[in-house]
Amino acid sequence: MTNLGIIGSGAIGAGIARLAVAAGHEVLVANSRGPESLRELVRELGGKAHAGTPAEAASFGDLVVLAVPLAAYGALPFELLAGRTVLSTGNYYPSRDGRIEVLDSAAKTTAEYEESLLPGAVLVKAFNNILAHHIPALARPAGAPDRSGLAVAADDRGAKQVVSALVDSLGFDPVDAGSLAESWRFEPESGAYTTVYVADPELFAKNWLADPGAPLPAERLRELLALSHRPDVASRAF
Ligand SMILES: NC(=O)c1ccc[n+]([C@@H]2O[C@H](COP(=O)([O-])OP(=O)(O)OC[C@H]3O[C@@H](n4cnc5c(N)ncnc54)[C@H](OP(=O)(O)O)[C@@H]3O)[C@@H](O)[C@H]2O)c1
Repeated sequence: MTNLGIIGSGAIGAGIARLAVAAGHEVLVANSRGPESLRELVRELGGKAHAGTPAEAASFGDLVVLAVPLAAYGALPFELLAGRTVLSTGNYYPSRDGRIEVLDSAAKTTAEYEESLLPGAVLVKAFNNILAHHIPALARPAGAPDRSGLAVAADDRGAKQVVSALVDSLGFDPVDAGSLAESWRFEPESGAYTTVYVADPELFAKNWLADPGAPLPAERLRELLALSHRPDVASRAF
């Protein structure tokens, strides 16, 4: 079992925390407002969950999950994240995060940029290309015929294995999506972003939260990653 520190406990962070405690892992959740504000979530999660500060989450256990907006990376306890395996779920939304030249010019992928903000951290990218409500909807036990694949990218082999094992325990078949430099393959507007898990595109267009999600077999995800195209980040309007 893994001890997970989770920094950012909104839609994605809380969703990962729910699956993690259900799988028997221990979690320490953190946000920007402090542990008191997470009392309800911790009560819901039960005895395997704790609330703490971002610094406590960064030091807790084996793996740290970052589920915060990209603009918040500069405020993370980067000294404590040095040497740690860090699973980043982040995406670049210029309307939320401000325009970032190195991403607009495609000089770096979002994951490479995030790693540059966290010196010494060993970054792994996963869970950024699936909508928060599709995570619990599509999680399945190992071996289930309708299990979905989930992309995992990293430069460090060992860290990729650790995160892949976590992804498997949370209910998805980990799919090796290459290095951080290749992680554009499942960034927004690429060929393997969130809509690949959509069940009903018409319903999704009208009310995206109502879409129940559809299983995406690991083999199909591999094909989509191979066929993916690099997005024109500079023209991103959201
Ligand atoms: N929502 C999705 O469907 C989805 C899907 C894939 C990827 N993502 C990506 O995943 C990341 C998280 O998205 P989300 O939808 O979960 O966001 P969210 O619901 O808005 O939650 C963001 C969390 O980050 C915390 N936070 C913000 N600044 C912080 C800081 N400086 N230190 C510590 N915690 C901080 C917030 O805490 P407070 O509430 O206390 O401020 C909140 O718990 C984003 O990069 C997003 O693009 C989201």
